[in-house]
Amino acid sequence: MAVQSLSSEGAEAPAIRLLVCGGPRCDAEGRGSALLAAVRAALAAAFPASADSARISCVTRDCLRLCTKDPVVRVEPSGDVFSNPAVADLLHLVADALARRE
Ligand code: FES
Repeated sequence: MAVQSLSSEGAEAPAIRLLVCGGPRCDAEGRGSALLAAVRAALAAAFPASADSARISCVTRDCLRLCTKDPVVRVEPSGDVFSNPAVADLLHLVADALARRE
């Protein structure tokens, strides 16, 4: 499974990491993959290449063992889990995490 991060390897730990599940239930009908693509596109647009973008990680994982009928996203380090979150809500979480770590 492809893993991609907006942060560079070897840099300090990200301020926030979004784990978008690509497991069999979340990605049924491609919904997990679609959510991952939408989140990555939104992050790239909202936080273009900058010091902030290096502090954001957005990766995919196989089943997070939190299956629902909808794609699941776990946020680290908070551990909060969202089922079928709105991309805008995830962007707010990222902005808040960056502001807290300044
Ligand atoms: S398939 Fe995504 S949490 Fe299980």
